[in-house]
Amino acid sequence: MNYKEVVDNNPLLETVAKVAQQTGLETYVVGGFVRDLILKRPSKDIDIVCVGSGIELAKAVAEELPDKPQVNYFKNFGTAQIKAQDWELEFVGARKESYQRNSRKPIVENGTLEDDQNRRDFTINALAISLQANNYGEVIDPFGGIKHLEQRVIKTPLDPDITFSDDPLRMMRAMRFATQLKFDIEPNTFESIQKNKERIKIVSQERITVELNKIVAASVPSYGFKLLFYAELLHLIFPEMVDLHGVDVVEGKAHKDNFFHTLQVLDNVAKVSDDLWLRWSAIMHDIAKPVTKRFDKRAGWTFHGHEDKGAKMVPHIFRRLKLPMNDRMRFVQKLVRLHLRPIPLFRDHITDSAIRRLLFDAGDDIDALMMLCRADITSKNHEKVKRFLKNFDVVERKLKEIEEKDRMRNFQPVITGEVIMEAFDLKPSREVGLIKTAVREAVLDGEIRNEIEEAFAFMVKKGKEYGLTPVKTIKELS
Ligand code: CTP
Repeated sequence: MNYKEVVDNNPLLETVAKVAQQTGLETYVVGGFVRDLILKRPSKDIDIVCVGSGIELAKAVAEELPDKPQVNYFKNFGTAQIKAQDWELEFVGARKESYQRNSRKPIVENGTLEDDQNRRDFTINALAISLQANNYGEVIDPFGGIKHLEQRVIKTPLDPDITFSDDPLRMMRAMRFATQLKFDIEPNTFESIQKNKERIKIVSQERITVELNKIVAASVPSYGFKLLFYAELLHLIFPEMVDLHGVDVVEGKAHKDNFFHTLQVLDNVAKVSDDLWLRWSAIMHDIAKPVTKRFDKRAGWTFHGHEDKGAKMVPHIFRRLKLPMNDRMRFVQKLVRLHLRPIPLFRDHITDSAIRRLLFDAGDDIDALMMLCRADITSKNHEKVKRFLKNFDVVERKLKEIEEKDRMRNFQPVITGEVIMEAFDLKPSREVGLIKTAVREAVLDGEIRNEIEEAFAFMVKKGKEYGLTPVKTIKELS
């Protein structure tokens, strides 16, 4: 295989090759860029390895490039980076690495191209394209990486026990690449992950979560979770999800396996949305089913309150997984809490007030919530699925009607705490909260409109119940 044309047609690579040949540094393109080139996947990150100083090469290349881009380098690691147009070039000197047993930090020694390829994670990531004059554009493939790309397998170049114990994050990377590329993991490599799984404990949570999120963002994320589950890595990094697995049978009654159900919901969501946090909502939606599970002689299996309990578990899990503790977390929490709410709303006798409340509680996330609800239908019975989806069509129609009429989605009550305090000359107190809630509830119930005259009158009436008399009229309010 020869990639001479690819190198010639890429002005950056052509410059690297020219400089390398002028300075006499043996230089190669390696890693993900070569893999993605063969797979015809777009890639903007190029890793360059040279036998010698990667930093010196980077500096010389930058001098030759238009606008002479800045070189960022890390002396300790012997790496350098150049950003040019929308490309990112990473330079490193070829290394022979040995690792300390209890740390991912390698002791770096200079080495040959062969040493460098030996220390890489997978055969498909150990391919190199030569930039030397004598074999320009040729792929150097000592471990059968090209064959493995064709066979679609992830395999380590060395004995997998060595590759994984050198850097246990690679166990997660194996599953991530398998999921992104829809590849198998070669059996020996997979067994080694099972054997070495405990070593994941020396890897920082941040790095683990980067890989986990890449699995979640893939087109069929369930595949990665199944790999993590069967290797028992999931047991170490996300035990609450493993607890969803299994079926109990009492008096001949079984519940569904909530692990596989959750994965199906996740895949369903992934088909309609790339939103990482909607996908996390799918992962978490039933997370409290194991802890709320009861068997009742008449009702069978129940999971009462799993949506509220699940919402409470979300921040704990997010904190541990080092996922963001911000509005993303609150979005996931909200969807977990509300995921059952739309279900009964298709029925004829449902009041507008129930619809209004859901619009108020979900706010702008109502569309995401409906996507999750639709994805949550995983019955194998097609008739049942059709019926449930039709019910959600009815719910969505009602939501639209009420929203157009009442504008509940971003409803801001006209009677705020400040208005109540000013009108009754009160300091912040329990009464202020009670009156505020009463006014809001009256609007949601459709008893009054969210309009100052009606709401103020209602507030005055409510105040009377607490023995309060207003000291200001509407007109006197500031
Ligand atoms: N690498 C490795 N072990 C790691 C991380 C990286 O051997 N734990 C090597 C691989 O050869 C990899 C290259 O470094 O191809 C670049 O790593 P990275 O940029 O993380 O991955 P890519 O393969 O480029 O893939 P992606 O961009 O999808 O992460």
